[in-house]
Amino acid sequence: MRIVTDVLSMQREAERLRKSGQRIVLVPTMGYLHAGHESLISRARVLGDVVVVSVFVNPTQFAPNEDYTRYPRDFKRDVELAENAGAHIIFHPSVEEMYTQQHSTFIDCGDVTQRFEGAFRPTHFRGVTTVVAKLFNITRPHVAVFGQKDAQQAFIIKKMVSELNFDIEIVVAPIVREVNGLALSSRNTYLSPAERERATALYRALQHSKKRILEGFFTWDVIRNEMRTILEESNPTQIDYIAFIDPATFEELTTVPQGTVLVALAVRYGSTRLIDNLLIHRD
Ligand code: PAF
Repeated sequence: MRIVTDVLSMQREAERLRKSGQRIVLVPTMGYLHAGHESLISRARVLGDVVVVSVFVNPTQFAPNEDYTRYPRDFKRDVELAENAGAHIIFHPSVEEMYTQQHSTFIDCGDVTQRFEGAFRPTHFRGVTTVVAKLFNITRPHVAVFGQKDAQQAFIIKKMVSELNFDIEIVVAPIVREVNGLALSSRNTYLSPAERERATALYRALQHSKKRILEGFFTWDVIRNEMRTILEESNPTQIDYIAFIDPATFEELTTVPQGTVLVALAVRYGSTRLIDNLLIHRD
C-alpha cells in the first residue's frame, strides 16, 4: 500500500491508473478508522481495481465551537487498518496542502444543507461538499463509497454529483453497529463507558419507531414523543432532533406515505453529539 501526501503526486497517480484502464474507488474518511470504515473499504474492493482511502480531518466542516482540534487522530493505526482491509493507496494531505490561506471557494447545495443536521451545524455541509469535490478532483475516482450513518451527507453529495455533473458513481454502504446497537463512529471514543451504555438508547428509539411505523396506525408526533421518552430514560444532555424524512427529497414528512421512511436523530451525552438513523420500508 502506498501513502501519498501531496496533491500533484495523487493526481498523477490517478491519471496513470486511469490511462492503464484501472477503475478507481475512493473511500473518503477523516481517519481514526474503525470497523465501519473497514466495511466501506471491503465494499470498495468489489467495486473497482484500486481502492484509495483519504484520511483528512477537514477543518472547513467544523464550526469554531466544534471538536476540530480534539477530533481523534491515529494515522499509524489507520494505515494498518486500511492495509488489512485491502486499500491500495492512502491519500493523507496536510491542511496546508489542501487549503491555501486565501481559500474562499465553497460549494453550497442549497436548502437541504440547513435542515436537520444543518439546523445545528449551519456551515457543516458546505465544508463537506467542498472537500469532497476537492478529493474527487485529486483522486479522480470512478466510484466513491460513503456510509449511510451520515444519511444527509450522502444525500447532499449525490445531489452535488448530479447537479455539477461529476462523472462519479456514489455508493452508500449500510451502518455498522456494535452488538448493543450503538452505531460505530470515531466520536464514540469521546464517550465514557457509562455514556456508551446510555447511548444505546438511540438504537432502541429507532427500533421503536420501526415497530410503530410498521403497525400502521400512528401520527409522527405520537411516535416522536414515544422516542423522546425512550431517549430521556438514558439521561441525555440534549436531544437535538428526531425527524421523519422522505429519503427521496430529504424533506420532513407531514403525511404518512407508502414506501420508505428515514427516521433520523441527533442526541448529546455530555459534549459528545451522536447521530443515527434507520430506513424503514413500508409496503
Ligand atoms: O464522513 C466523513 O468522514 C467526512 O464528512 C468526509 C466525507 C470524509 C469529508 O470530510
